[in-house]
Amino acid sequence: MALLEDLHRLDEEARRRLAAAGTVDEVDTVERDAVGPSSPVAEARRSLRRVPDEERRRLGRVINEIADGLSAAIAGRRRELAAAEEAARLQAERIDITLPGRAPPLGSLHIVMQVWEEITDIFVALGYTVADGPEAETAFYHFDALNTPETHPSRFESDTLYVDHGDDPIGVLLRAQTSPVQVRYMEQHDPPVYVVSPGRVFRRDTTDATHTPVFHQMEGLAVDRDITFADLKGTLGHFAREFFGPDERVRFLPHFFPFTEPSAEMLVSCFSCGGAGCRTCANTGWIELLGCGVVDPNVFEAVGYDPTEVTGFAFGVGIDRLAMIRHNVPELRFFFDPDLRLLEQYR
Ligand code: DAH
Repeated sequence: MALLEDLHRLDEEARRRLAAAGTVDEVDTVERDAVGPSSPVAEARRSLRRVPDEERRRLGRVINEIADGLSAAIAGRRRELAAAEEAARLQAERIDITLPGRAPPLGSLHIVMQVWEEITDIFVALGYTVADGPEAETAFYHFDALNTPETHPSRFESDTLYVDHGDDPIGVLLRAQTSPVQVRYMEQHDPPVYVVSPGRVFRRDTTDATHTPVFHQMEGLAVDRDITFADLKGTLGHFAREFFGPDERVRFLPHFFPFTEPSAEMLVSCFSCGGAGCRTCANTGWIELLGCGVVDPNVFEAVGYDPTEVTGFAFGVGIDRLAMIRHNVPELRFFFDPDLRLLEQYR
């Protein structure tokens, strides 16, 4: 029968095309041509209506067998090609996770900031609060309230950097010490006071091995009933042992500061020679660390504290100097050099 021959030829041809198909799209085309709605198979099914009954069942079964066989072959080929396409895509998108990653360079805190945080922590552990103050300060907080006479040389323009601001030409300056934070803090808080204030200070200094126009200090202030010089020595001795190690010895020498009476300088045994005397300590065996003293009653009066009720001690320590000692840095100005090759040596 001519119809069946046509269908078998179609079947053979479709299978040949399937075998030759290289993509899923091509399989779709074969499917449309072979078993789609306007394919010879569909056409044959429609023509069954005109075939006598007994013939129709046999013919119908043959058409179905051919159509089912083709559909299965199409589905199989489509699966094969889809899997191959997927494998090719995965291969193309492959990421080699065994390559070492590119680590971004990690920064670190400048060692002055590390020491800043470390010494602040030593006092926070003793119960001290941390306070802040302005870097542009008024002469009142910086000098007057700190019992500094009109004639004191630190007021001269040769030492202090004044800011041309407002009517009073000597009213505003860049602070040369963190001490004015003492006054600001006491104005805002009633005693007892236990406070430290690390910060940046400015002086009219020419840069050399031990001077830079900007450096860092930490101020400390303790005010309470019955505070004595013994509390000062105990607290600052503890600080030195925490920072330098338990074997470090400290020593107090008389000094002068306008806002403390008596005043002292604290020295620490030389880290470089252990006290025998060397270049670092100018053969004295000791290194100057900080200024300190018992708060002058005039300072309490300036902030409205009653000096017959409370006493206190104060100190100011150079943060950069501590960092130089800790890391054996020979020149202060290294800290302000933006050359990373230099700074990275002092991590
Ligand atoms: N402000 C002083 C300075 O810059 C350091 C200082 C000395 C601070 C004695 C104090 C102190 O609080 O009591 O040299």
